[in-house]
Amino acid sequence: MSVQYQAVGWNRQKRIYDAVLVGGVLAYLTLFVGLGAFLYPSATAITLQIRAFGTLALVLLHVTLCIGPLCRLDRRFLPLLYNRRHLGVTMFLVALVHSVLSINQFHARGDVTPLVSLFVSNTRYGSLAQFPFQALGFTALSILFLMAATSHDFWLHNLSPCVWKRIHMMVYVAYALLVAHVVLGALQADRNVALAVLLGIGLVLVASLHLLAGAKEWRIDHDLRRAELNGFVEVCTVDDIPEKHGKVVSLADERVAVFRYDGKISAISNVCRHQNGPLGEGRIIGGCVTCPWHGYQYLPDSGTSPPPFTDAVPTYRTTLIGNRVLVHPCAHPPGTRLEPSFIGQVETGAPQ
Ligand code: HEM
Ligand code: FES
Repeated sequence: MSVQYQAVGWNRQKRIYDAVLVGGVLAYLTLFVGLGAFLYPSATAITLQIRAFGTLALVLLHVTLCIGPLCRLDRRFLPLLYNRRHLGVTMFLVALVHSVLSINQFHARGDVTPLVSLFVSNTRYGSLAQFPFQALGFTALSILFLMAATSHDFWLHNLSPCVWKRIHMMVYVAYALLVAHVVLGALQADRNVALAVLLGIGLVLVASLHLLAGAKEWRIDHDLRRAELNGFVEVCTVDDIPEKHGKVVSLADERVAVFRYDGKISAISNVCRHQNGPLGEGRIIGGCVTCPWHGYQYLPDSGTSPPPFTDAVPTYRTTLIGNRVLVHPCAHPPGTRLEPSFIGQVETGAPQ
């Protein structure tokens, strides 16, 4: 391998995710074919299978597309994001079965090879009513294949995150092609109202979640710009600071220690009053920042030592925008209590 890369380990959460996924896929296919055979006794088994795999692939594609914006709107959806690639690859495999069954059913018995037949048996690209919708499905499948084949971390490291991201943004092209595949194909052929309604709901859901997430990000960017205009400096994200620990940042030639504790963020000078020890490398013990050198303690919101001690260090204003931590580089006199920033609290605008 040309680039150093470390495989991500298999863990319990991933196994549960995959088991739920495979169970859901099998349940959907069984239910679809079983109910289909009951409701439409004239439909052949192969038609039901083609439809079961096709609609399932489309459902999985919708779920995959909704996970990204859901996570940007609410961090509790993040566990779904970490395993999204398994969902994507499963969706591709299901779509592949639908495609192979369709090609075998509609193109395997002619004079030309099935794949050629797919493109030459209908060339009425100028007609909406008889548009060669299967070619759209094939193009979408090729994109899904490219994404599934490069989904492993090995490719993320070798192709570079930027190229990898570009490839995976093509999922929206595939989505548009597939909506056209269904609208120009199955929906025109048998005017299936349920399929039309479900596709409509899916489209509205995907579009509105993306718009909502986009609006939230726009608000965050806007608040960030305003906060920066007011002198605040973005230093890290909340996740960069482990609970009850600090992060040292350099602001206006001063070293500042930003602490996370009990759902709050506060910042004090990094320099201990005793012998200039690095407070940001200490931990919060008993509610106090504890210097790693000789154990002097300071309250994180006021920078004062707990009674009977009287030492104090300067404090800094903090603010949170989304999960980004910002600190104002202007030091407040030692012992000045400043309101901590509360993690998870909805921001009502940029700080003044
Ligand atoms: C080579 C690629 C493909 C071919 C040849 C193909 C062919 C077909 C055909 C012939 C139908 C009509 C079936 C019927 O009405 O009985 C159909 C419907 C459909 N296809 Fe595809 N398809 C391909 C790729 C895909 C992909 C990649 C997806 C989704 C991810 C997809 C999703 C669907 C859906 C949702 C339907 C409607 C099913 C229904 O009638 O209930 N197709 N496709
Ligand atoms: S330097 Fe901080 S306790 Fe000594």
